[in-house]
Amino acid sequence: MKKIIIIFAHPTFHKSRINKKLISAVENLEGVTVNNLYENYPDFFINVKKEQDLLIEHDIIIWHHPFYWYSAPAIIKEWMDLVLEHGFAYGIKGNALKDKMAFSVISTGGKKEVYCKDGHNHFTLNQFLVPFNQSANLCGMTYLPPFVVHGSHTISDEEIDNFTQMYHDLIVMLRDEKINITELLSKEYSNNIFDK
Ligand SMILES: Cc1cc2nc3c(=O)[nH]c(=O)nc-3n(C[C@H](O)[C@H](O)[C@H](O)COP(=O)(O)O)c2cc1C
Repeated sequence: MKKIIIIFAHPTFHKSRINKKLISAVENLEGVTVNNLYENYPDFFINVKKEQDLLIEHDIIIWHHPFYWYSAPAIIKEWMDLVLEHGFAYGIKGNALKDKMAFSVISTGGKKEVYCKDGHNHFTLNQFLVPFNQSANLCGMTYLPPFVVHGSHTISDEEIDNFTQMYHDLIVMLRDEKINITELLSKEYSNNIFDK
């Protein structure tokens, strides 16, 4: 069984429609740790040693947050800057994360169709996520396709429930090693593993 840690950040969680449901579906699963950064570090003083120890204990690292300014809420960047330290996560002696897996779980205001070359946002979501992808690579991790919920402004409660079930199933399958990782890596989004 793989151990999964969800590095979660949502500055206005009380107002969340999507991520509140996503998190509630996975937070009590065996083998899954939800690390809510804004709850644990409201003052932004991240306990680096504690975070690094948590990463060592887990096999799969998830950065889960709403998409903010084509990236992440600020505390995710602070966490990366401090926790993914030279000599720990990268560099000649920095191999603590080597051979682990990582990926992003993202909700966006924009619909899928605006995230393409000819769309309103001009780039795909995977292009915007390159800093996460390459940070994982630098740390010797395999970056899996993101799990994405688009269109937060217009999505129905029923659609959110479908994505919530999908997220739950994805986490359980990754935990129980029931997913062919080579096949998963060929997908645009991890969601696509459920395509009929
Ligand atoms: C400060 C801020 C920046 C945002 N930037 C983006 C963005 O760059 N692209 C986008 O599609 N949505 C953007 N949004 C919309 C959020 O991604 C959206 O509200 C969120 O994913 C909804 O999830 P929730 O229901 O869990 O709050 C932004 C929202 C805020 C408040």
